[in-house]
Amino acid sequence: MNDDSPLLAEIKRLIETAGPMPVWRYMELCLAHPEYGYYVSRDPLGREGDFTTSPEISQMFGELIGLWTASVWKAVGEPGVLRLIEIGPGRGTMIADALRALRVLPPLYQSLSVHLVEINPVLRAKQQATLAGIRNVHWHEDFAEVPEGPAVVLANEYFDVLPIHQAVKRDGGWHERVIEISASGDLVFGVADDPIPRFEVLLPPLVQMAPAGTVFEWRPDNEIMAIAARLRDQGGAALIIDYGHVRSDVGDTFQAIARHSFADPLQHPGGADLTAHVDFQALGRAAETIGARIHGPVTQGEFLKRLGIETRALSLMAKASAQVSEDIAGALKRLTGEGRGGMGAMFKVIGVSDPSITSLVALSDDAERAAEGQKA
Ligand SMILES: C[S@@+](CC[C@H](N)C(=O)[O-])C[C@H]1O[C@@H](n2cnc3c(N)ncnc32)[C@H](O)[C@@H]1O
Repeated sequence: MNDDSPLLAEIKRLIETAGPMPVWRYMELCLAHPEYGYYVSRDPLGREGDFTTSPEISQMFGELIGLWTASVWKAVGEPGVLRLIEIGPGRGTMIADALRALRVLPPLYQSLSVHLVEINPVLRAKQQATLAGIRNVHWHEDFAEVPEGPAVVLANEYFDVLPIHQAVKRDGGWHERVIEISASGDLVFGVADDPIPRFEVLLPPLVQMAPAGTVFEWRPDNEIMAIAARLRDQGGAALIIDYGHVRSDVGDTFQAIARHSFADPLQHPGGADLTAHVDFQALGRAAETIGARIHGPVTQGEFLKRLGIETRALSLMAKASAQVSEDIAGALKRLTGEGRGGMGAMFKVIGVSDPSITSLVALSDDAERAAEGQKA
């Protein structure tokens, strides 16, 4: 009896018909297949789900993002309408915490028009519940649908789910990494027969010199370029937070996460989150090519400390029971810590703005230097 899931059966059929499938296409189908894709069919967040993100760890995260948003509003001249856009907002927790923090600034709060870009109907319903009662919130399938105007764009753990290409170095050049069907009927990694033409010349020197067998991965630049072009033309700034490295480098970071553990990315397509680390140097380069200015990257720990997370934790702890105080201290450690389980060094933060904004709060040059030595 064939017990392949519907998505596995479809992927095998596509490989049998069209030949080995590039990693990016596999990742795209697993995450966003209109019927069986991981991100169109479930809420993957939280203890009961597959992974936990920073906004779900503590309200402090979203509150500080609210504070950062206020600093951009000032930097763009306190416009009458500011588009507050979040791409991939999960359960809406971060934006709800940010908006609560921003209520103390009525002129800013009243200027906000909130735009959530989300493809997942299950999460969209959760966002609607989380934000019930807040006026002026709009949902979109695509970033390009958001109306014009100065904007703050937020994306936490969004870029890591965008499909990656992988190439493997062979003696004669770099070959696209693909997924094939083994003799026993399982999905396995392979490489395309022909090298990618003239691929070598596009690579950073460090990567060009890598030995045979090395994997190099990259994402198409269209998403970051669309954000950068909007900010360049209409003003504002974006904050991109994710796990990744500050310099482009070799390595295979393609991974599956299910039930809070790493899993085999080729097992259970559509049943696990598939991600890859974000190359912040490549993101920054793409944004600068479009004519936007970049700020950072800095580590998440540095960014949150610069925004005052330690003071905020102390003020919350002062009003809390012993048990809740302990939870707040634990959340602070997890969000900013650099050791095992800490997100403070593994996660990086980069700002992208229209070129007239010369500095962004918590992402200044000093912080940039601090991040220099910290490669994931
Ligand atoms: C890893 S979750 C992060 C959620 C949230 N930002 C947080 O930190 O809790 C990724 C988010 O991106 C959304 N998403 C995935 N692919 C997307 C796409 N192509 N366009 C818009 N949203 C997408 C998911 O549904 C989810 O809301």
